[in-house]
Amino acid sequence: MKLNFTRLAKNLFSRVYRRHTHAEMVRILVAKQMRDFASESIFVETGSGISTVALTEMAKKCNGRLYSCDINDEMLGELKKRAGDQLTDVTFLIGDSIASLREIAGKHDRIDFVFLDSAASAMHTFREFQVIEPCLKAGSCLLIDNAALPQAKLLLSPCRKGKILVPYLLASPNWQVRGHPDAGDSMVSAVYSDKPNFADERYERSRNIKYWQASFQKHLS
Ligand SMILES: C[S@@+](CC[C@H](N)C(=O)[O-])C[C@H]1O[C@@H](n2cnc3c(N)ncnc32)[C@H](O)[C@@H]1O
Repeated sequence: MKLNFTRLAKNLFSRVYRRHTHAEMVRILVAKQMRDFASESIFVETGSGISTVALTEMAKKCNGRLYSCDINDEMLGELKKRAGDQLTDVTFLIGDSIASLREIAGKHDRIDFVFLDSAASAMHTFREFQVIEPCLKAGSCLLIDNAALPQAKLLLSPCRKGKILVPYLLASPNWQVRGHPDAGDSMVSAVYSDKPNFADERYERSRNIKYWQASFQKHLS
């Protein structure tokens, strides 16, 4: 049998370095932020999987409702079979996540928790965010897998999903951003604040933000 040493080394590194799985990180973050959620909170995830079970559990604790969006019908069938009645309260939306998120944003003014973990694409993840951005209000919490802060070195994946979105969040005054390089496949979380004090000075001087912020959403949609 031929051994793939690179893969072996990567697996070993992940086992030693990963402090929290995707599901654990979801539970930790929701438990920390839930006091700021709406009384009937809305949870959304793109890219279903084990994380869906953790999100269902946490949505229940928040008297909330979970939408899980995935393009792979067959995988969803398998997931539902394996998870049994743990997923009975989830609303699954099958198809491209951009369309599914538009549907959700059309129904809800506010989304409390979002987990972005679908296509391994910086642009796709950024577009997902753009669709739901108007629904993210004070206390809303965002978790992105395969993402890292720009200065982070030791990572569990190439972190493509956050490559555009994370700098955008850092440059925005309303998002308080944190890196979790040793969780999931390296993750970034962000919490929306109505006090606009959080623009990272390495990206934006606060006085310049007014020049782009108002028109940015309009130009990209
Ligand atoms: C990394 S997996 C999700 C893992 C899951 N979040 C977990 O933690 O267990 C990525 C998922 O995204 C789905 N996906 C890929 N491209 C998509 C798209 N354009 N729209 C919706 N789902 C997509 C895939 O079918 C796959 O199930």
